[in-house]
Amino acid sequence: MIVEHLSLVDFRNYATAELALHRGPNVLVGRNGQGKTNLAEAVVFLATLGSHRVSSDAPMVRDGQEFAIIRARLSHGERKVLIEVQLNRQGSNKARINGSPSKTSELPRYAHVVLFAPEDLQIVRGDPSSRRRFADQLLIQRTPRLSAVLADYDRVLKQRTALLKSARARGIRGEGLSTLDVWDDKLVALGSEIIAARQRLAADLQQPVADAYAAIAGADHQPQLEWALSVRGGDPEEGEAATADSTGDIAEMFRASLLAKRTQELERGLTLTGPHRDDLVLRVRGLPVKGYASHGESWSVALALRLASAELLRSESPAGDPVLILDDVFAELDADRRQRLATLTAGYEQVVVTAAVEEDIPEVLHAHVVRISAGTISDEREAADD
Ligand SMILES: Nc1ncnc2c1ncn2[C@@H]1O[C@H](COP(=O)(O)OP(=O)(O)OP(=O)(O)O)[C@@H](O)[C@H]1O
Ligand SMILES: [Mg+2]
Repeated sequence: MIVEHLSLVDFRNYATAELALHRGPNVLVGRNGQGKTNLAEAVVFLATLGSHRVSSDAPMVRDGQEFAIIRARLSHGERKVLIEVQLNRQGSNKARINGSPSKTSELPRYAHVVLFAPEDLQIVRGDPSSRRRFADQLLIQRTPRLSAVLADYDRVLKQRTALLKSARARGIRGEGLSTLDVWDDKLVALGSEIIAARQRLAADLQQPVADAYAAIAGADHQPQLEWALSVRGGDPEEGEAATADSTGDIAEMFRASLLAKRTQELERGLTLTGPHRDDLVLRVRGLPVKGYASHGESWSVALALRLASAELLRSESPAGDPVLILDDVFAELDADRRQRLATLTAGYEQVVVTAAVEEDIPEVLHAHVVRISAGTISDEREAADD
């Protein structure tokens, strides 16, 4: 698919914005703080229903405004789709598809996007929540239905945790808490579905990640992905990764784990087991990336995760390629990786590259330059060689 046109109203620093995009490479150039990443973020939101920078939606609404609108005309081959979301500071967001009201969770069915950003280093170096977020955003792209499952799990988790906290405050222990069972059932049903989907994702990413790593790093360091499951006792906080075994009955394991932790949960007023405590352990040369890998190796893993995501979506989606957005990544890379990344991405249906310094952009991606300045998209012109 490609994004043919993007319109924004009161999104970040844009009062209004109209951006025409082409098939193939597109370049957005502007000095720091002018609004390049904001454009990338708007497109990403349509695909993942979230931002890669903030966990709540409010910061994306322009200062002083009540709501923002992101609207995009997409083209899947011959078919055009107009999708739109209104981000409300208060209350839930509203979506439209071809003008008709729709669930927001429908949007990722139409918009497939893979973003490469400097923040990606956090996926490999940051805490487990960064890796869970990476995995869940890709899951939503792969299986849009899961966005509702993930949202329901969060809600059940909050309610169950609130119940544990109030039980602690009232001094109720163990057996005296029958309502907890109702929440446990929901937590296990939703949580097991998430765990199973994440494990399938890691298995399906394994080969594409290995291929992408070799292509980016120019060396085979045997990258590996594996979930450390808290329901299996592999609590990432204790640093022991579980062995890969997807055949076990996850729900049963989850129940046993809740039972084992119940006293501790009541003491601490926290839900101590479940997919919200899992970690996607990444390794190169058999060692965990976090804490062991060099800066360059960490970057190679981060880029490989994104490239592999793109390959996975490309191979599975009837809608064609995902749109690749490379936000400010070339400035972070050495000349070899720069060149390799450009070559590996240039064949996608649409690539959007942002940079503060135009010279950082490799020649094969240098086309259709648009200039961004202080929340206005100006001086739009075709690259001279096009
Ligand atoms: N909700 C908001 N309302 C108004 N302005 C905002 C809002 N959120 C962010 N901004 C402004 O948007 C600008 C940042 O835009 P953005 O992150 O897209 O910059 P950029 O062009 O990607 O810069 P860099 O090259 O440094 O990455 C900042 O000036 C920031 O103050
Ligand atoms: Mg930026």
